Amino acid sequence: MKRTLLIVGVVASLGVIGTAQAGGNAQAGKTKAATCAGCHGANGEGIAPNPALAGKKEAEFIQAMKDYKSGKRANPVMKTFAGQVNDQEVADLAAYYASLKKK
Ligand code: HEC
Repeated sequence: MKRTLLIVGVVASLGVIGTAQAGGNAQAGKTKAATCAGCHGANGEGIAPNPALAGKKEAEFIQAMKDYKSGKRANPVMKTFAGQVNDQEVADLAAYYASLKKK
C-alpha cells in the first residue's frame, strides 16, 4: 500500500511536467483517469486483458478515442467510455497517459 502511494506520488509529479509541454492538461487528465484506472491500471500499466496506456503517443490515443466514439473501431466497452469524455478531456487524458512511463 505504501508502495502504491509512492508510485502515485511519482506519477503526480510526472503529470506536472507533462502539463508544461503537452497540448492537453496532464494534471486534469490524471483526475479524469480515475474512471479508466479500473481497467487500464492506476498507472496506465493495463490490467489484462485491458491494454496498457502508459507511454502511448498522444496522437494515437486521441485517434483511438475518436474511432471508438464513431464506431470505426468497434468495442462496446470503449465506446461507452469514449462517449463520456469531450475533446478537451480526451486531450488531457492523452497528455496524462503519454507522460507515464511505459512498463
Ligand atoms: C471496463 C474496462 C475499461 C474501462 C473502464 C476503460 N477502458 Fe479503455 N479499453 C478497454 C479495452 C478492453 C480496450 C481494448 C479494446 C480494443 O480491443 O480495441 C481498451 C482500449 C483503450 C484504448 C486504445 C488502446 C490502444 O492501445 O489502442 C484507449 C486509448 C483507451 N482504452 C482509453 C480509455 C480511457 C481514456 C478510459 C477512461 C475514460 C478507458 N479507456 C476506460 C477497457 C476499458
